[in-house]
Amino acid sequence: MRAMTAPAVTLTESVLRRLTERVLEAAGVASDKAALVADSLILANLRGVDSHGVQNLPHYVEQLEAGDVDPHAEGHVASESGACLLYDSEHGLGAVTALTCCGHAVRLARRLGVSLVVAREATHFGIAACWSQKISAEGLIGIALCDASPTVPPWQGRAGRVGTNPISLSVPHPQGRGWLLDMATTTAAYGRLEKSQLEGKTVIPEGWAQDREGHPTTDLGTALKGFLMPLGGYKGSGLAVLVEILCGVLSGGAFGTEIRGIRQHGRHSRVNHTFLAIDVTRFLPLGEFQARMDRFVAEIKSAPPAAGYEEVLVAGDPEWRIEDERRRGGIPIPPGPWANLARVAERLGVVLPAGLDPIPFG
Ligand SMILES: NC(=O)c1ccc[n+]([C@@H]2O[C@H](COP(=O)([O-])OP(=O)(O)OC[C@H]3O[C@@H](n4cnc5c(N)ncnc54)[C@H](O)[C@@H]3O)[C@@H](O)[C@H]2O)c1
Repeated sequence: MRAMTAPAVTLTESVLRRLTERVLEAAGVASDKAALVADSLILANLRGVDSHGVQNLPHYVEQLEAGDVDPHAEGHVASESGACLLYDSEHGLGAVTALTCCGHAVRLARRLGVSLVVAREATHFGIAACWSQKISAEGLIGIALCDASPTVPPWQGRAGRVGTNPISLSVPHPQGRGWLLDMATTTAAYGRLEKSQLEGKTVIPEGWAQDREGHPTTDLGTALKGFLMPLGGYKGSGLAVLVEILCGVLSGGAFGTEIRGIRQHGRHSRVNHTFLAIDVTRFLPLGEFQARMDRFVAEIKSAPPAAGYEEVLVAGDPEWRIEDERRRGGIPIPPGPWANLARVAERLGVVLPAGLDPIPFG
């Protein structure tokens, strides 16, 4: 469950999108690219993944200002061979790279049944689900992976070697509401620590973080100076390495400790993105695949709820529900992220939507 705090503001999706676009444009991003980045951030907020929504916009602006991200870079295909494509992002905007690479993944999988597209010298692409969904919206199974700065020690270690390296898989669905897994390979994504900090919390759930010596901690201050913990012990550690093999090692670009995060400035991030597309019609007709998925999900949900739960959910369910609510009722932005967003907007001379306090909290 994601914790809720009283929002500072609640904005409609379109107002928040326009504000995000204007901030990016004021930071030197062309309007078409600003719209793509805004889409990815707003989708995160719509899905309730606020740790990867407009909370990250001030970091994106700082990266642009520091020259870590090139707002004009188009990227280029470094090589293409059969179902495999290597892309060089040229440190361009992560959303621009990811959208281009998803297009290549779909094109190749339609022709060859399956595709693997790897982008190097890339930057933060936000939530992985944004990109696995772009592929599944085309009727293919979509997988999106990326690496991230080394905030996570290997299992039994006490120095960061891998990132929160997320994995997302989205299956095609007639209403676009299929099974959609989108998870960090740590118990919690790093943005969740920052979100807790912005919400003024001092305690985080058990299992999220460890101190610099490797002791588990629930103290947020200690966690921010320490490390995130791999999901499920050594198995999560293995998954993070798996992602890095398919991203940084395979790309020929940076990996592990060579990667920089969105909060570190003065150097390119050099992250890598990997996209896989699978054409299910090479196995069975799409309608039959979807009917089998429906049956499988129904079978999973038919399990009686465990003590303390009212229902069984599958991956994607919590986010689809929040997305429905937020498309209707708007996107709540808590005080901390709103203050940061308002500050960056004001600094760049972007007028806030009418009636909103420019800096509500100091
Ligand atoms: N770009 C990056 O560098 C980067 C790095 C790490 C994470 N991320 C993003 O951070 C986001 C958050 O990741 P997270 O691991 O904190 O997500 P999470 O723990 O909130 O959810 C993980 C998955 O579990 C599913 N889930 C949640 N509750 C469930 C339940 N009761 N039953 C069944 N399934 C359930 C969700 O639908 C989701 O697919 C993701 O969107 C990820 O892509 C991005």
